[in-house]
Amino acid sequence: MSLNKFIDSLSTQGWYVWDDFLTSSEMQAIKNCIPDTLQDARIGHQDTLQGNKAIRGDQTIWLESEMGKPIVDYLEKMESIRQELNCQCYMGLRDFETHFCRYPNGAFYKKHIDNFQGLGKRKVTTVVYMNEDWKAGDGGELVVYDQQDNQLFQLEPVAGRMIVFMSEEFPHEVLPTQQKRESLAGWFLTEKIL
Ligand code: OGA
Ligand code: MN
Repeated sequence: MSLNKFIDSLSTQGWYVWDDFLTSSEMQAIKNCIPDTLQDARIGHQDTLQGNKAIRGDQTIWLESEMGKPIVDYLEKMESIRQELNCQCYMGLRDFETHFCRYPNGAFYKKHIDNFQGLGKRKVTTVVYMNEDWKAGDGGELVVYDQQDNQLFQLEPVAGRMIVFMSEEFPHEVLPTQQKRESLAGWFLTEKIL
């Protein structure tokens, strides 16, 4: 059972790779809900927002139920995971925010942490990869480090795969991609989004 293994790994080692989380047809349907024009991704928050291609080169759009049934289905799937994590691990997750990301050829995301200790509301990070014909040499691997900055593993961004990790515990980076690279990045939050 994937769900039990997931809960177990996330609570013991802090991360889990869930292959075949979404099917090709689910991913295709989600992609069909995404407009062609996305926003340059930003770093920092609120009035310190600044586009910075030297740090990250992806483009994003926040996902909302209004974008279509396939998005609703994905959000519902993540909602059931949220409830499991709260029931089985008392994680106190109150909400989920998620965006679609597209890295054009050559783009990367330098090493960072999604939530510095105690500073934000992101508790658990999820990234679902949607690259149907990704092959070795295409780049765009996710590199995950421990808190001493030792490399733990590299992950190929293959279609249907989801990586989940505790947002405060794992610095990570996206290596330069040689192909368009698409994903859904999400965060379970300790507070409700207003
Ligand atoms: C992020 C991120 C990793 C990936 O969006 O914060 O680190 O593999 N994404 O896309
Ligand atoms: Mn990140």
